Amino acid sequence: MSQQSPVLVNPLKEGIRIERAGEPCAMIIFGAHGDLTKRKLIPALYALYIEGFLPREFCVVGMSRTKMTDDDFRAAMRNALQQFAPDIPFDAAKWDRFASGLYYLPGYFDKPGGLDDLAEFLKTLEERHGTAGNNLYYMSTPPSLYNPILDRLLESKLNQRHQQQGALSPWPRIIVEKPFGRDLQTAVALDEHLHTVFHEDQIFRIDHYLGKETVQNIMVLRFANGIFEPLWNREHVDHVQITNAETIGVEGRGAYYEEAGNMRDMIQNHMLQLVSLVGMEPPISLSAEATRDEKSKVLRCIRPIDLSRINEFAVRGQYGPGYIAGQPVPGYRQEPGVDPASNRETFTALKLHIDNWRWAGVPFYVRSGKRLAKHVTEIAVHFKRAPHRLFNLAFTGAAETIGPNVLVMKIQPDEGISLKFATKQPGTTTRLRWLSMDFNYGAAFGERTPTAYERLIHDCMIGDATLFSRADAVEASWELISPVLEKWESEAPGDFPNYAAGTWGPAESDVLLQPDGDMWRTL
Ligand code: BG6
Repeated sequence: MSQQSPVLVNPLKEGIRIERAGEPCAMIIFGAHGDLTKRKLIPALYALYIEGFLPREFCVVGMSRTKMTDDDFRAAMRNALQQFAPDIPFDAAKWDRFASGLYYLPGYFDKPGGLDDLAEFLKTLEERHGTAGNNLYYMSTPPSLYNPILDRLLESKLNQRHQQQGALSPWPRIIVEKPFGRDLQTAVALDEHLHTVFHEDQIFRIDHYLGKETVQNIMVLRFANGIFEPLWNREHVDHVQITNAETIGVEGRGAYYEEAGNMRDMIQNHMLQLVSLVGMEPPISLSAEATRDEKSKVLRCIRPIDLSRINEFAVRGQYGPGYIAGQPVPGYRQEPGVDPASNRETFTALKLHIDNWRWAGVPFYVRSGKRLAKHVTEIAVHFKRAPHRLFNLAFTGAAETIGPNVLVMKIQPDEGISLKFATKQPGTTTRLRWLSMDFNYGAAFGERTPTAYERLIHDCMIGDATLFSRADAVEASWELISPVLEKWESEAPGDFPNYAAGTWGPAESDVLLQPDGDMWRTL
């Protein structure tokens, strides 16, 4: 494949690593007929291609049970690219060159010998595309197929480095999509199985939140600047609020959501990743292990939730019918694929304590939910108030409160950073106003932000696991939430649905903050 476009330099990546194209490889997508391939993976690969980050020696093999020819697959992917990734500049000639490396092979992962055809085909592709025997497997199937696929990879020796022109090929690698298990026990079992087939340094557990520019920027903000870190501790931080609010419902994924629920879908992975990035100590270097060591320590320091007082630390909710943007929407129990008496949570709020030197006594409030009033994901660090109220109510006016400084890292949709602070209102008297100093990514950098999948697939191709979850962190997060889930699943909530679509979740989530005198931010 030839590469036409110059490499676009993204200034936000500067200093983290030198940009380079991924290593030669064939990427094998198991579950290629599913949504993820067309919505995320192929658009990400095409964007990497036009921006010069794909190796020349590259091809894709899509595998699923569905019967399709290479041409059918290419045509479906072309349509999907235009439908789901309209912001990626489409160029028919470039697409054709890219698509000439897309192949499709029907596959039966649960049958012995189900990957023998693939093993043969990869040999042909290795010669045709010069992929050097490097195979990148992408598990994009329902989790029930993970174990059979791992068995088939082992059986067909596709997990092994093999002889290639007298030398051993450098690597097979595997990207595993969440959910990594459904509780601690199944997560450990999955890891054990993965480790019988691959070494830990070949396993890339993907959490797309870690590929978001704004999430990567948390470390840059904290550790590349001198002014924040001295304040980033119990002396100066009052509490931290992490909000993930979605206006969408379960979007036709009712059956999956009935199995998962919000805690498994969002908290175990994405939200706890954010907690660990905000809470971590500076790593000794930017190496994958140094960074992941620090993140993992944070998760291991989170105080287990006291199940005898669970309502003081964990709140669950489920949406009923309501209105989103003025339009009526059904409740969760009315969604296709959902049990009309379902007790599955679509909202979670947690009060967490990180029991270590830096964070002792500082609550971390985390909330995530579907069908909430607004689409926004952010991290708000609430600083302690000024120790002495020199400017009292007389200066702020009866309607104003003397608020704390709040640093907000806006993950989406209006990516940026803002700092709320007090300022003097112009005039002959001294009146205070709370204003925000805002930095907006779009306005500042004005270039298309790579999607999380672009960043993460590229990282896997260069063998950088920094932005992937490590087994110990996954297990630490299950250790925290599994007992809560068990308790919830053994006791019917009794009040579901307990929030209307288009609101900010159940009233109990506000009560969670009250003992500490805190309130959720108005977003
Ligand atoms: C996915 C969840 O992992 O993340 C979805 O399965 C959720 O339920 C999505 O909607 C949210 O991702 P983002 O990037 O839109 O915040």
